[in-house]
Amino acid sequence: MELKINLKKERQNTEINPEKLDFGRIFTDHMFEMYYTPEKGWHNAQIVPFHNFDLSPATMVFHYAQSVFEGLKAYKYKGKYIALMRPEENFKRLNRSARRLVIPEIDEEFVLNALIELLKIEKNWIPDKKGYALYIRPTIIGTDPVIRLKPSENYLFYIILSPVGPYYKNGFKPAKILVETEYVRSVRGQTGDTKASANYGISLIAGKKATELGYDQALWLDAIERRYIEEVGSMNIFFVIDGKIVTPKLRGSILPGITRDSIIKLAKHLGYEVEERDITIDEVIEGIEKGKVTECFGTGTAAVISPVGVLGYKGKNYIIGNGEIGPISKRLFDEYTGIQYGEKEDVFGWLKIIEY
Ligand SMILES: Cc1ncc(COP(=O)(O)O)c(C=O)c1O
Repeated sequence: MELKINLKKERQNTEINPEKLDFGRIFTDHMFEMYYTPEKGWHNAQIVPFHNFDLSPATMVFHYAQSVFEGLKAYKYKGKYIALMRPEENFKRLNRSARRLVIPEIDEEFVLNALIELLKIEKNWIPDKKGYALYIRPTIIGTDPVIRLKPSENYLFYIILSPVGPYYKNGFKPAKILVETEYVRSVRGQTGDTKASANYGISLIAGKKATELGYDQALWLDAIERRYIEEVGSMNIFFVIDGKIVTPKLRGSILPGITRDSIIKLAKHLGYEVEERDITIDEVIEGIEKGKVTECFGTGTAAVISPVGVLGYKGKNYIIGNGEIGPISKRLFDEYTGIQYGEKEDVFGWLKIIEY
């Protein structure tokens, strides 16, 4: 397939004020899009000025959430390159999500190359400062203007880019997490292990409840026994228990985070013992009380590693470690970001460096 490029005549001022970077509100001048019809398959791939869509109120995605997406970041590397971390994994996961939602798969290599072209065009939108990035949002939606419940026949794939500031502006601030005991996010066989848009709509209520009670995010338990720890709003979760790094195994209801996978590989490489297994909330609470659980952190594209200082469970707050970032969390953060910025050797070949 050919990639058409249609650039905007007037470019926006890309002077980005770091104080004003509210996540996900500002978008760059251009976007990538392509269309799917049963006759032509995916076609009409193009980079075009950022624009609104003209969609019927009956459009499939608005009613039945036939939609999947991804999230990754591009950043300036050594002053003259753009870098991505393991972007192939995001497009692989996008196709896995698409299969689950009966959405036609995309050509991963073609789309990654289109993204690279888009990034080269939008390079001035990436501030040349550590921690700053362009957040990349690939999305696929069903576009049939039909409210009958069946898979859409036509689809739209697009990628938009949004400049974001560093997650930690004033150093690490450990998060306060509320263990959610009323609502559930997903159950094995459902869509929790994909990035289906619907997963996020149904989880908002727990985030809202957590915020209202003074926490940053909610921690999900399994939907059946309400005992096993699953993940946080947009992060996978890790604990340090008796000096071992422990994370819930992928039980079919948890998103297989790419950062989760990278941190597991990196930690093993650094000589830590890592276990992927079932972890109950009782084990964690008891472990915190007895001083066996010494650290807790979330992993995800947004913050890489987000230390957790407090777990709220059944009306009580449990302080982990001393409520500050623990030494293993800090080491993993430093090693991972060291690879990201070329300060440490990229032993796993995760970096995709783009010259422009
Ligand atoms: C529900 C959920 N869990 C975990 C993650 C972390 O995944 P990743 O490391 O691929 O960003 C995300 C973010 O994409 C998420 O939305």
